[in-house]
Amino acid sequence: MTDPKLQLMNTMQNFPFYISKDMRLRFLRDDEKTVLSTEKELPLVIEPVQENSFAVLKGLLSESRDWFNQQLDTYGAILFRGFEVEGAEQFQKVLELLNVQLESVYHFGSAHRVRITDKVFTSSEAPPDMIIAPHNELNMVPVRPSVLAFFCQVQPDLYGETPIINTEKLFYNLSPSLQHKIANFPQRFVRYVPNHLLEIVFENLSREEITKLLQEQGFVFNWEEDGSIYFECSYIPLFSHPRTSRLCFCLSIVDCLVSREWYRNIGQRYSFGQRLYYNWLPANLYKSFQQRLTTAATVVDGSQKRTSTLDTYFLTEDGHSTKMTEAEAQELGKAEWKNAAIFEWQQGDILVMDNLQVAHSRLNTKLKRKILTAFGNMCNIRHMKPALLATHGKIGDRVLD
Ligand SMILES: [Fe+2]
Repeated sequence: MTDPKLQLMNTMQNFPFYISKDMRLRFLRDDEKTVLSTEKELPLVIEPVQENSFAVLKGLLSESRDWFNQQLDTYGAILFRGFEVEGAEQFQKVLELLNVQLESVYHFGSAHRVRITDKVFTSSEAPPDMIIAPHNELNMVPVRPSVLAFFCQVQPDLYGETPIINTEKLFYNLSPSLQHKIANFPQRFVRYVPNHLLEIVFENLSREEITKLLQEQGFVFNWEEDGSIYFECSYIPLFSHPRTSRLCFCLSIVDCLVSREWYRNIGQRYSFGQRLYYNWLPANLYKSFQQRLTTAATVVDGSQKRTSTLDTYFLTEDGHSTKMTEAEAQELGKAEWKNAAIFEWQQGDILVMDNLQVAHSRLNTKLKRKILTAFGNMCNIRHMKPALLATHGKIGDRVLD
């Protein structure tokens, strides 16, 4: 079978007549990136040649839907850039033309989201200064989207990038000891949702419906007397991609020391005092300050209420839970940064990602910025085959570059 990348290279050389006279394929140029990293092939950019109307984009998608989905498998993310896409309905239409079975509920999310259409939501409304660390969407939930998409409705004035990471490359950039730990010790995800946040996390489901949902997905859970709930599940976050057999390494926001590496790397965007905080504070003090900040952020109506939390542990052979060490968190944060594709949003961009293969993040932003999101093709990671672990940069018979 021909290597899909080779096929695409030939296609690029034969452009523009092989696929369509209406579109061009490329990778991001350096001037479109805000940070230059080792990642050069994420995402695949599709742009118009002359006519950039939505009708042209619709035509391309209708004619070559399978081809686009093959590229999504090969590269992990596709960026439609330069087409006239105007709103949530058109964004939704693009995904439907790609045959994505969109979800209309957003259970288990932790961010407040506003529904724009029945299947399109606003992305996280997290505070603009905050970095949302790299993660795969709904990673603590076994049934999760295999496709995730973003649409840039209002281009940020400054910053507000959504870095993306090929998690196979990331995994093989980690030290053998951290690879070994991730591959052999299940991660245990423990989520706590206080009563007053159930409405955000479970979108108006009743207590009975939440119980049913958690049972269906195989969570262990416990309702507290005050109506809050703890639920947890454990698994090894590595598996074989269902179509490409590549390694998928699913990321959660595990430790504030991971995202600290990101704050350090974009320190110039913050004040001198903040830079000192991110760079020089001892790790234990940094952790306890970060925890206090999270609690302070949840003061509602003048009263301090508990916030929703997600704690992640490694389960050892004797069943004990241990946290990621300081050194491991730093290593992971540094490797994420090194492997991330970080680029500026442009009005009308549509980024479609394979949520199993590619993780995403959000850097600090300046208002105004409006990014919409939609997702679908739900899959159960408990049905995935275990990852075929490579040695010396090889996975199966495929050599990593
Ligand atoms: Fe996300």
